[in-house]
Amino acid sequence: MKFFVDTADVKEIQDLAATGLLDGVTTNPSLIAKSGRPILDVIKEICAIVDGPVSAEVTATEHKAMLEEGRKLAKLAKNVCVKVPLTVDGLKTCKVLSSDGIPVNVTLCFSAAQALLAAKAGATFISPFVGRLDDIGQDGMELIADICQIYENYAALKTEVLVASVRHPVHVVAAAKMGAHVATLPPNVLKQMFNHPLTDKGLAAFLADWAKTGQSIL
Ligand code: E4P
Repeated sequence: MKFFVDTADVKEIQDLAATGLLDGVTTNPSLIAKSGRPILDVIKEICAIVDGPVSAEVTATEHKAMLEEGRKLAKLAKNVCVKVPLTVDGLKTCKVLSSDGIPVNVTLCFSAAQALLAAKAGATFISPFVGRLDDIGQDGMELIADICQIYENYAALKTEVLVASVRHPVHVVAAAKMGAHVATLPPNVLKQMFNHPLTDKGLAAFLADWAKTGQSIL
């Protein structure tokens, strides 16, 4: 399973990339707004830090303008993945960009029917939002299971399932069990995945016993 980080905070991305565990980055207009910086600068900087796909989202809602924005974003770096919303115009744009060889992440997916349309439009990634479904009392992970099953049924569909709106490590593990290709994680969730109290306790005990020996490896 690939791990992307869901942030436009360049410093945070630098720190996480240093772990060697980062396969890509996703941003959205809210995250760019939170960074308080110009989108083109932020995306260019992120693309220089991470080798994998960096999703940059269009903000136009009409096909022609979306296409123009998407092409401009794609020119920023070779690893830009243009993000479009799951609307009729978004999928029309996805179809054209992907036919031109530009990778596309179709975002704001909340149903299996939408995911099927995105795959037919040639999306590189489909982003179903699990946390936002959980928030309204629907089971977000059920949607992931449905999409994984549908995509597996058709070898011709090459779209990868990118689990988005992840709220905690339990979402990540459940998605991995279902065979989802990617999870995009808020930085705090990625950090939480390292932690277990028994790891801390075990390490403290090992180090205490080691100190008693007076030995040194180096
Ligand atoms: C995905 O690409 C989105 O940026 C993100 O996962 C949305 O998550 P949120 O529901 O926490 O805003």
